[in-house]
Amino acid sequence: MTPPPASESILIFDFGAQYAQLIARRVREQNVFCQIVRHNLPAARVAELQPRGLIFSGGPASVYTPGAPRCDPAVLDLGIPVLGICYGMQLACQLLGGEVKPATSREFGRAHCRIQEAEGLFAGVPQGTVVWMSHGDQVQTVSSDFVSLAATDSCSVAAVRHRSRPVYGLQFHPEVAHTPYGSQILHNFLCKVCGCHGQWQLESFLTQTLGELQQSIGDQRVICGLSGGVDSSVVAALLIKAIGPQVACIFVDNGLLRAGEAEAVRRTFRDHFHADLHVVDAQARFLGALDGVSDPQEKRRIIGHVFIDVFKDEARRIENVRFLAQGTLYPDVIESGASVDGPAATIKTHHNVGGLPKELGFELVEPLKDLFKDEVRRLGLELGLPEALVWRHPFPGPGLAVRCLGTVTAERLEVLRQADTILLEELKQAGWYRKTAQAFAVLLPVQSVGVMGDGRTYENVIALRAVQTDDFMTADWSHLPYELLAKISTRIINRVNGVNRVVYDISSKPPATIEWE
Ligand code: XMP
Repeated sequence: MTPPPASESILIFDFGAQYAQLIARRVREQNVFCQIVRHNLPAARVAELQPRGLIFSGGPASVYTPGAPRCDPAVLDLGIPVLGICYGMQLACQLLGGEVKPATSREFGRAHCRIQEAEGLFAGVPQGTVVWMSHGDQVQTVSSDFVSLAATDSCSVAAVRHRSRPVYGLQFHPEVAHTPYGSQILHNFLCKVCGCHGQWQLESFLTQTLGELQQSIGDQRVICGLSGGVDSSVVAALLIKAIGPQVACIFVDNGLLRAGEAEAVRRTFRDHFHADLHVVDAQARFLGALDGVSDPQEKRRIIGHVFIDVFKDEARRIENVRFLAQGTLYPDVIESGASVDGPAATIKTHHNVGGLPKELGFELVEPLKDLFKDEVRRLGLELGLPEALVWRHPFPGPGLAVRCLGTVTAERLEVLRQADTILLEELKQAGWYRKTAQAFAVLLPVQSVGVMGDGRTYENVIALRAVQTDDFMTADWSHLPYELLAKISTRIINRVNGVNRVVYDISSKPPATIEWE
């Protein structure tokens, strides 16, 4: 684990990955630096890291089942404040003499909570408030060492504090939006109990990171691959600010980009940042390799290989390079299990096309590996990247190839590109682009019958896809207004030669995926 960029940090013990990340987001929103660690991090290591406080996350297990994840009990003797949430509370209470049992009725969803001690953890929270519960077990009895702080109708111990140790517990989830005073409660824990000052700001992160980059890179050269997306652009902007002309940016134009992408990258990096930008026109190489291929995984495999070859060829032309910069984010670090003190890898299927193999022989520079996506966006704005780039929807590595169902040809790509441009223009104009997480057009491999003027047509079908999602693991289709859909459909059919029908995809994920291939 890298040393925290501020002296005040919180460690979040992970008892079930999906909870820990959300808690970390909420803590960072209070301008307090935090990192997620594995649940059994030894007390000696915790002491070494000198956190201001510890949060035990929720988790799906029952504390009384054999093999349930536990922390090193000595962690509770360090005198560092602890906030246990749900499973984390049950564990802390059990380790300190309380009894945890299945609740008579499991409690899921909103519950009315009566606060019994309206100070400390609950300062500023009304006496009656709504909280979000999600538990089958609960703390039945606490030892006389504990004071109960809150109750709901079916949970008499909804929050506790220890009488002599700085240990607190919440049966409900303060990290979710359905607990309206959740951030107040977290704020109270961080500032009143742990004594944090909420001074972890992106500006200080930026100053510190620039210094660290200058020091670790020295007078060596760095290659930075640009994809046109937010993460790689922020990495490049950061490096340019830190070490200027020592950075060489490589952008591979694979012919599978949206309209105007390569131009936008040129404008931003060559014209605005004056970067040493290498745009490689590899369209023919990619399209040649994809000729006649229609299987989606085969397309991905080919694109991945050609990308590595093209990138290597270009990298070879740049002399004296020691480092390769990558836009790895904190969730990637957590999910890959790559951090020394962090939790084990969770199983996540993600498509890693565009990744570069280790044998390129460079040392990695990953300046965003402590940040969440929204922090990266804010950093991008701070660094002067254009808003349109910072708020750009994610775009898959294999690009339009997986949205051009069936075989990929220059002509079919052009039809898709034109339809896609109209969709995005209309969404932006109607104020819907920022309300959707991802939106795109798909060219289907079927022809349909239509009439245009007096003639019968037999032409392409375009499917429109727009989804709402926070994590891209699940997603719902966006309920775009009918009028907007009508306008998009009319424009596409009138303007794009070769399209006579437009359909809207109303499938959620799961069972459908976001992309069609
Ligand atoms: P799915 O289609 O699996 O997509 O629901 C989830 C997210 O991943 C993106 N995606 C990809 N990204 N290479 C990428 O870099 C790929 O091969 C790939 N396939 C899907 C997709 O756009 C969505 O954001």
